[in-house]
Amino acid sequence: MQRVTARAHANIALVKYWGKRDTTLNLPAVGSLSLTLEALSTTTTVAFCPDFERDRIVFEGEGATHTPRIVAFLDRVRRLAGLKMPAEVTTANNFPTGAGLASSASGFAALALAATRAAGLDLEGSALSRLAREGSGSAARSIFGGVVAMHAGDQDDGRDAVAEPVLSPGAWPLAVVIAVTAAGPKAVGSTAGMNRTRDTSPFYPAWVASHADDLDEARRAIAARDLTALGAVTEHSCFKMHGLMLSARPPLLYWNPLTVALVQKVATLRQEGLEAYCTIDAGPQVKVLCRADAAAEIEAILGAEPGVVRVLSSRLGPGAHVVP
Ligand code: DP6
Repeated sequence: MQRVTARAHANIALVKYWGKRDTTLNLPAVGSLSLTLEALSTTTTVAFCPDFERDRIVFEGEGATHTPRIVAFLDRVRRLAGLKMPAEVTTANNFPTGAGLASSASGFAALALAATRAAGLDLEGSALSRLAREGSGSAARSIFGGVVAMHAGDQDDGRDAVAEPVLSPGAWPLAVVIAVTAAGPKAVGSTAGMNRTRDTSPFYPAWVASHADDLDEARRAIAARDLTALGAVTEHSCFKMHGLMLSARPPLLYWNPLTVALVQKVATLRQEGLEAYCTIDAGPQVKVLCRADAAAEIEAILGAEPGVVRVLSSRLGPGAHVVP
């Protein structure tokens, strides 16, 4: 029996992924672009053993009860490796769970690496990213560090729906400041929310059609290390996604009043000369893109806003790796 531990970091999309072209293989309808965050990680240990009765998943010291997605993912790894044995998975996040921060990206990226190595497979780079995507779309990006692009691809088998690194973590000193406005799980999970949006929003075709332009704009901004241009397309993609979500039936409203207040606060900071740009995922937390040397100041400002539960800040971090 081989026990392997892997760590992967969370990521925040600047150009958002929302919508699937295939639900079974989890193929995205649109590409995306993200930053891998050093400060937020998941560490996962996997062992396959014939003596285990069934898969056992221990999350932060407690036996997890609702784990069909993890078991389905382990089944994929077993099929790839030709294994029949159950697995023991032990996993923990270094960021507060229940803080409403997405952990499926770092979670499935760490699981993909630990489980394949424990099963005797040696997947790396795009092969590992492709597998992680089958667990969660955003997890494909957490295989790589720094700035990462995810391709929607157009092949039915998903072979081209993978992420690729764009910039290494040290190539551009950016940071993300995360203001937690409310704890607790999100109202509607990403998968259900995406499917509802695709099935009911009249704006969905326009969202898909306009995505390539946003990605091009972001890539040009990154190549030129132009934070003003990157910030503009980041906010555009975020607000376009939330407008799209609101146009679903029933609507998906992930924000709370403090989310709105922080969006306005960040716009004010910009008018005052502090470069900061908002992005928001399928929950009420506000993530702020800025230069690394401005992060501490922005962290203090957002932390002082009434109602903010906590503030975290991170520079860009590495891709998924095995922990010795
Ligand atoms: C709003 O990757 O969590 O954070 O593929 O269904 O697991 P599944 O969805 P997930 O969706 C992330 C959506 C988002 C935007 C993004 O990260 O690009």
